[in-house]
Amino acid sequence: MSSLQELFTRRVVLMTGKGGVGRSSLTAALATQAQRKGVRVLICDIGDDPNDYSPLARHFGRDRFTAAPTLVAPGIHGVVLLARSGQELFLKSVLRSGTLARAALSSDALRRLLSAGPSFKEMGVFFQLLTLLRAKLPSGEPEHSLVLIDMPATGHTLSLTGLPELLLRLVPRGPIAAALREGQSYLNDPKLGAAWVVAIPETLPVSECLELLEGLQKTGMPTGGVLMNRVPVDPFSAAERSALQSPLERINPLGAEGFRRPVLARREIARLRAGTKLPIIELPELAHGAALISGLADVLEKEGRTS
Ligand SMILES: Nc1ncnc2c1ncn2[C@@H]1O[C@H](COP(=O)(O)OP(=O)(O)O)[C@@H](O)[C@H]1O
Ligand SMILES: [Mg+2]
Repeated sequence: MSSLQELFTRRVVLMTGKGGVGRSSLTAALATQAQRKGVRVLICDIGDDPNDYSPLARHFGRDRFTAAPTLVAPGIHGVVLLARSGQELFLKSVLRSGTLARAALSSDALRRLLSAGPSFKEMGVFFQLLTLLRAKLPSGEPEHSLVLIDMPATGHTLSLTGLPELLLRLVPRGPIAAALREGQSYLNDPKLGAAWVVAIPETLPVSECLELLEGLQKTGMPTGGVLMNRVPVDPFSAAERSALQSPLERINPLGAEGFRRPVLARREIARLRAGTKLPIIELPELAHGAALISGLADVLEKEGRTS
């Protein structure tokens, strides 16, 4: 099975990478692709404010997703994971009664947890994710066979993947620890969880991609591969290139920059290949507009069969 086909057999996939490289577009394209394969896919945004505008939801004709999963296209559900609602869900579920909740809130363990500050925010997202992964259909099958998450930024991804280990050091026992271990059992099992890094073939994004791959490994998060997006198509052969190079530089230096772009892109992809053994799937620069997502989904479909 190709690495891309494997992506569709996972329970949870984190789409991560530097801002602007195409995480949201590829999340939408992969969801389309998953739906074509009959996978019950849930796409997730991670947000702070329920009123925030979502570029991912935009691909499905909406301004934003809601805090409960809703059908956004045939076979595709969408949801926004909000730290606050996740925290509430967490406290309600872990501490079943009000008396217990009060007792827990005065416990040392929970006080230590709350004082971990920003981690508690990630904990909200983490717990909501766990709830979605646990949800079952009446048949007993998972309600969302694939949970595909459009991660906000590199730092957030590592905070989320590193969260269980960090918090388990503070709270090694009890219901909180059990929830953390259960979440880990999805995220850190290479059969169930994967992170895919999206990058573009330019110097900084490739450097950041290599750093992110290292960070993911440190937090025990299995990595599926790299989606190298917006690879420029080179219309010239090597012979044409050498013939055109110097006249172009003389006549039109600005044009020469565009002329060099495909060559620089190849160089950056080679640098990435030298730095990782993971599969690198190339996606071309396509025309912007309504057909972008279906265009990307078509390329992913072909790649899935060959790579
Ligand atoms: N393969 C592609 N070809 C052309 N444009 C693309 C491609 N992938 C993404 N884009 C464009 O790049 C911009 C950033 O993409 P987006 O998915 O929003 O990135 P991110 O979610 O990583 O910030 C958008 O305008 C999108 O239309
Ligand atoms: Mg985005």
